[in-house]
Amino acid sequence: MENQTFAIIKPDAVKNKDTGLILDRILKAGFHILAGKLLHISLQQAEGFYDIHKGKPFYDELIEFMSSGQCMVLALEKENAVEEWRNTIGATNPAEAAEGTIRKDFATNVGLNAVHGSDSNENAQKEIAFFFSDSELRGNQ
Ligand code: CMP
Repeated sequence: MENQTFAIIKPDAVKNKDTGLILDRILKAGFHILAGKLLHISLQQAEGFYDIHKGKPFYDELIEFMSSGQCMVLALEKENAVEEWRNTIGATNPAEAAEGTIRKDFATNVGLNAVHGSDSNENAQKEIAFFFSDSELRGNQ
């Protein structure tokens, strides 16, 4: 589906009490929140979710961080959602993120980077299915 993407408000942003401000950015950017929940994921869940990064130098740090506290997972809808969300959050490394992007304003560094966004329509559907059940994705239908 080209109108859906998956987002995470990561443990650094939740801990910093930026959840509300980031949700506001999401809504003001024109996304519809189809589903969302606060979770404290296990190390095993983090390993499963970030399996494509296994073996990379930052992998251990990444999965430890993602399971270090609560995060908010979100299924977002908007036309061209994957690209729109990536533009809204900015570059992975906040030092390279454009002015006005979420990572520019809320991230600390490439590891503690406040938010996640899917990189393709295919991965968006996989990532949404990783965290949400059919009934959670039913919306108002
Ligand atoms: P995310 O969009 O969640 O996708 C994979 C994550 O790995 C990325 O955001 C960063 O948080 C993390 N990451 C990517 N590159 C590095 C790096 N060089 N060092 C530490 N973490 C990284």
